Amino acid sequence: MARPRLPPAAAIAPYLERIDEARWYSNFGPLLTEFEARLGERFGPGAHVATAVNATQALALTLQAMDLPRGALCAMPSWTFVATAHAAIQAGLTPWFLDVDPATWMLDPERVREALPRAPGPVAVVMPVAPFGRPMDLGAWLDFRDATGLPVLIDAAAAFDTAADAALPSVVSLHATKVLGIGEGGFLATQDPALAKRVMQLTTYGFQGDRASRFVATNAKLSEYAAAVGLAALDAWPLDRLRWLRAAQMLRMAMADLPQVVFQPGWGSSWITSVCTVGLPEGVGAAVEAGFRSRGVDTRRWWGQGCHESPAFAGSPRDALPHTLELAGSTIGLPFAIDLDVEDARRIAAAMSETLRSL
Ligand SMILES: Cc1ncc(COP(=O)(O)O)c(C=O)c1O
Repeated sequence: MARPRLPPAAAIAPYLERIDEARWYSNFGPLLTEFEARLGERFGPGAHVATAVNATQALALTLQAMDLPRGALCAMPSWTFVATAHAAIQAGLTPWFLDVDPATWMLDPERVREALPRAPGPVAVVMPVAPFGRPMDLGAWLDFRDATGLPVLIDAAAAFDTAADAALPSVVSLHATKVLGIGEGGFLATQDPALAKRVMQLTTYGFQGDRASRFVATNAKLSEYAAAVGLAALDAWPLDRLRWLRAAQMLRMAMADLPQVVFQPGWGSSWITSVCTVGLPEGVGAAVEAGFRSRGVDTRRWWGQGCHESPAFAGSPRDALPHTLELAGSTIGLPFAIDLDVEDARRIAAAMSETLRSL
């Protein structure tokens, strides 16, 4: 399904030598400081970055840093990876699953506003998700925040390429399977220095410059070794981004004569992510999955039937979710990799074409 490719040993080696030299291995050393600064540059002036061991922890700790009432609702799409809901629960909140817009696959601020009066309890925060890294309209969410007074935290886990605005706090994943991977890692980008600082302190026992824990926290720091991989990955990013785009274009071209297969708008031209999730005619998802399987090509329903279907969240309230269920039956993840070649693309397209023809 994916062939993650992180920086090779030779590209990481100069950074490892800096670690050897400094003998500083974790706890906000020079490499992590540089990595955070370089990540912050991507978000323009005034952005602050706090890294964590993964995006799930970055989300949970950011929610915790927002100091929200325990047990209150965290409105989120059901059309997301389970990490979004786990993070809310870890932060003492209750996920409230809402439906997504069928065209964009994400929460629509207007519809969330309409849904608020039927919330089954007090809503503390809204966590929209950038589906598979698709760019979001932050302006609309800023308006939502200003109109409702509710804080908004963006789960931009797969959106390393497109998350470039820290006007709203956004969390990005650096997992090996993401478009810029370091193994495990994630970060918060925000224009609120106090929020970034609080998250940083939450990753290190609630320390504030001395040995006293000032609040209940955890250890979720990134080590210097992770930062070394991150710096090497950032060095490679301008070329790697083109490689990802080239792979995406190849897949798009190979399926150009299959109008039933709908790519996310702009995927592979104006933005890129590490997965290829396509829309298909309503309800054919399972048949396409089986067709691919019989041709020896794997597929993934990355988000299953929606997050609300996971037994772990059986007790979490949900709104009506017709579009989520529709997407579960009509979208599918195709194999994709930075070094996808013409033969791979041809094979995937052939599996799709033969399967659709047989339906
Ligand atoms: C929407 C979403 N949120 C959160 C995460 C969690 O990221 P991580 O694996 O870095 O914890 C993922 C991971 O794929 C994701 O897709």
